[in-house]
Amino acid sequence: MNVSIIVFSPSGHTLKTAKMIEKVFTEKNNNVRLINITGKIDFLYGNRIKENLEKDLGEYDVLFIGGPLYAGHVEHHILEIIEALPFPDEKHSNLAVPFVTYGGVHSSIALEEMARHLKKKKYKSILGLKIAAKHTLTTTLSNIIYANKPGPEEEKLIEKAVERVISIIQQGRSKAVDQYQVFKYAPTKERIMFRQFSQEMIHKKFKKVTINTEKCIKCKKCISVCPVDMFQFIDGEISMHRDNNNCILCAECFHNCPVGAIEHPYIEMAGKRLKDGFAALEKVPSAIYPTA
Ligand SMILES: Cc1cc2nc3c(=O)[nH]c(=O)nc-3n(C[C@H](O)[C@H](O)[C@H](O)COP(=O)(O)O)c2cc1C
Repeated sequence: MNVSIIVFSPSGHTLKTAKMIEKVFTEKNNNVRLINITGKIDFLYGNRIKENLEKDLGEYDVLFIGGPLYAGHVEHHILEIIEALPFPDEKHSNLAVPFVTYGGVHSSIALEEMARHLKKKKYKSILGLKIAAKHTLTTTLSNIIYANKPGPEEEKLIEKAVERVISIIQQGRSKAVDQYQVFKYAPTKERIMFRQFSQEMIHKKFKKVTINTEKCIKCKKCISVCPVDMFQFIDGEISMHRDNNNCILCAECFHNCPVGAIEHPYIEMAGKRLKDGFAALEKVPSAIYPTA
């Protein structure tokens, strides 16, 4: 069986999850193609995303697609990638598995919106996976949420998910059911709220990351870690060469700068909102949907 996995992973946890999925399929003698779009401008900017995707995707019997959860939604580049997918045909099956990693606080409407976008592209979301991972916004707080996740528990869950996917495929594409409705598991109020407030609306006013040029030692670490290519080194200076709206607030620049030269207003706000890392968490950290 041919499996393609597309992943966007600014801080590496969704990529770790994707690699767990890859490992289980490979051990069962399947061919896996993992397309990591993190930091790849060919998949993030411009009007050739569709062509670039088609080149790398190959043929698949099932497509896994995953990204991190930001502000109750899946990070928006993943939705753009879904829109750029080829419509199913004899090379590209219509069976898909959306997956998200999240920091345990709220996974909200992420799977639901991925499945809705997949449906528009004529894909059936046969399973969905929510995977608890380190809450990267708590890295510098007094309590780091899920510091060691995804770990062995998630690996076991992924093994189960892969077995279920294989069994669904063996039963035949036409019998597979789109589980879109099952992904609407978040409380109704929360679902309504996040459907009203897009990721862009929630994040917009915080997209004001700046470099303190007096502190900056020009080590270029920010350039290498930014997943959306915001930084450049020109004429001996580091600067931001894309519009602030392209920043996704992942805070990789902030966490990796060795001299604290990055000013990141969202981190300050997140510390308060997440109660210094002691926020209430979803009861079931990681799950496969449908649950049985
Ligand atoms: C800007 C931003 C917003 C986030 N919003 C949420 C959230 O609403 N709920 C939650 O549980 N986790 C949230 N997280 C945590 C991430 O979903 C989690 O750390 C994820 O695993 C990161 O994936 P990655 O390592 O592949 O980038 C957020 C993280 C960032 C950077």
